Amino acid sequence: MAAPQTFSLLAFTFSLLAVASTVTGSNITQILADFPEYSSFNSYLSQTKLADEINSRSTITLLVLNNGAMSSLAGKHPLSVIKNALSLLVLLDYYDPLKLHKISQGTTLSTTLYQTTGNAPGNLGFVNITDLKGGKVGFGSAASGSKLDSSYTKSIKQIPYNISVLEIDNPIIAPGVLAAPAPSAAVSNITGLLEKAGCKTFADLLVSSGVLKTYESTIEKGLTVFAPSDEAFKAAGVPDLTKLTQAEKVSLLEYHALAEYKPKGSLKTNKNKIPTLATSGAGKYDLTTSTSGDEVILHTGVAPSRVADTVLDATPVVIFTVDKVLLPAELFGKPPSPAPAPAPESDTAPTPSPAEGPSPMAASPPAPPMDDSPGSAPSDSPAASENTKAKNAADGVRSPSLLTALVTLTALAVSVSLCY
Ligand SMILES: *[C@@H]1O[C@H](CO)[C@@H](O)[C@H](O)[C@H]1NC(C)=O
Ligand SMILES: *[C@@H]1O[C@H](CO)[C@@H](O)[C@H](O)[C@H]1NC(C)=O
Ligand SMILES: *[C@@H]1O[C@H](CO)[C@@H](O)[C@H](O)[C@H]1NC(C)=O
Ligand SMILES: *[C@@H]1O[C@H](CO)[C@@H](O)[C@H](O)[C@H]1NC(C)=O
Repeated sequence: MAAPQTFSLLAFTFSLLAVASTVTGSNITQILADFPEYSSFNSYLSQTKLADEINSRSTITLLVLNNGAMSSLAGKHPLSVIKNALSLLVLLDYYDPLKLHKISQGTTLSTTLYQTTGNAPGNLGFVNITDLKGGKVGFGSAASGSKLDSSYTKSIKQIPYNISVLEIDNPIIAPGVLAAPAPSAAVSNITGLLEKAGCKTFADLLVSSGVLKTYESTIEKGLTVFAPSDEAFKAAGVPDLTKLTQAEKVSLLEYHALAEYKPKGSLKTNKNKIPTLATSGAGKYDLTTSTSGDEVILHTGVAPSRVADTVLDATPVVIFTVDKVLLPAELFGKPPSPAPAPAPESDTAPTPSPAEGPSPMAASPPAPPMDDSPGSAPSDSPAASENTKAKNAADGVRSPSLLTALVTLTALAVSVSLCY
């Protein structure tokens, strides 16, 4: 009796350790840093934040271009275009040199990261891999009529079966990718984009408060917007915004954006507090993140909110919709607040209102997935911390708390085995 119990507790302990180690993942920036001939490619992976996206995934083949091959792209196109071109070199499958030469029927199509962006119509996000005669392997766009004008040259690194890094001699160019317009046109009309995405209330508030100008002033440096849907503003627990002072309203709206480019992959790998446009002093008006599968949850210290859709990802600007208004603890955290603050637990009672229904985020069950904990295994007991100022210290405590949990479990396992 004792042995199985001890065993299962220990097994649990080790499974937690395993979770902890996947969180670290591989670091493509570091892998490529050992090879100066890929410095340009590596630098673009960082600038476009593709590095974060790669690090957040566990089965990847990265096709790498050396500095010479990269010169046909580098500096010749807007960053958003280079990002799309490089996304096509991130295959969402594992190919080591052996597997490349063993493709059944000698030819296959692989999905790429580009396919996941929603920017790739038809099969433009797929890459054709063909085992050619004489041991050569060719790569090309899967779009019909495309040539296999890129070839495998050598293997750089493999971490079986998570990441394989292979060198190819030319970029794979899907039709139209390089001709894409710079994002400036789209970005010049943020409110138009927001309205089309079902965030008219938010767009109107940005205009009437003047905060839109603050957003626009940071576009060149980088801008990330978390736009609550119109439903989010109608949800139970959202404070009456007409009761806020002008300064509070400005802070609330500035809290919904970052002065940096943080696409989904960067949010997924983030482990720090993220300052918002409302942040002026240390530890004020910041956000933390956790993940649940492929989802990113934002934590304000009052209530969590799920990142729903990507409205626009055009380096260095990214606009997301979120399914809750982000309520900063600085305005809504104190229970005896002058504003009709929501009960701090409001997030745990997500009133199955129409709010969850017709919106684009209906992908996940409307039930309480927002309840902080699911999936974000190694985080501190979030339900408690979410409601308290202790949350402010939570980030520094995150990994120690995991350690504490492990130590506790191990001690428990030992004491159980002693008892029997
Ligand atoms: C590889 O990915 C799996 C998940 O698919 C993960 O459990 C494992 O820790 C990863 N291994 C390495 C070396 O990163
Ligand atoms: C990856 O490595 C680079 C270079 O060593 C470092 O700057 C970066 O912070 C690392 N990223 C992560 C997520 O650890
Ligand atoms: C890949 O391209 C080659 C050459 O154009 C073509 O013959 C082959 O059918 C393609 N493979 C697939 C799986 O579409
Ligand atoms: C912005 O987009 C909206 C909706 O698409 C449109 O009505 C408006 O005229 C656009 N504004 C500008 C300045 O282009």
